[in-house]
Amino acid sequence: MNDPKRLAAAAALELVVPGMKLGLGTGSTAAHFVELLGERVRAGLNVIGVPTSEATHRLAQECGISLTTLEETPELDLTVDGADEIDSALRLIKGGGAALLREKIVASASRRMVVIADGSKKVQTLGAFRLPIEVVRFGVEATRRAIIAAGAAVGCSGDVSLRMDGVGHALVTDEGHLLFDASFGRIPDPEGLALLLNAVPGVVEHGLFIGLADEAFVAGEGGIERLVR
Ligand code: A5P
Repeated sequence: MNDPKRLAAAAALELVVPGMKLGLGTGSTAAHFVELLGERVRAGLNVIGVPTSEATHRLAQECGISLTTLEETPELDLTVDGADEIDSALRLIKGGGAALLREKIVASASRRMVVIADGSKKVQTLGAFRLPIEVVRFGVEATRRAIIAAGAAVGCSGDVSLRMDGVGHALVTDEGHLLFDASFGRIPDPEGLALLLNAVPGVVEHGLFIGLADEAFVAGEGGIERLVR
């Protein structure tokens, strides 16, 4: 096992104990965690999980993991999820896999959130990865302009465009919304931008995860680096 994503997932698996209620993240790194968790479940581990996307729901079912919902189980012990960018304060950009809304709800319902990633995700300043912003369909062009204005107010400028699904249609998220990707390049004030985006009518949620991650396992050539907030 020398895929850094799988190594990071294996490190997070060490935190899982019997009886835990788990949030299950989305993306290729989180998929490693779900697969490894599945191996432990098949060996007798008793846990229950809330998936953060339809894709993770399918994978977790295939792996034999018992699933629940936040309606049945509104408080979770631990969420393990990937990230698109992580800075030294454990602020994240997420949503590359279009699951940021459910991911943020599940992370917020968890006592602890642990991020797993390979070394390419660690950055000094957030923003090289395009910031995903989930929006309702109504008034989408007005919302796009308001997002551009919000960015400009905190020194962020760049293209804000709808994510497409690969066959020429706007991508629709698991919750039925659209997704903008904002190419800001550099986000000097993530907290300020988050506040302004939260205030834009039409924005459902954005991919800045601030104050949510407690710990990260980042796997690189030198082994696993553990970051703590
Ligand atoms: C899903 O919406 C994202 O937040 C993912 O967690 C993120 O894109 C990381 O994905 P990978 O593990 O595939 O890099």
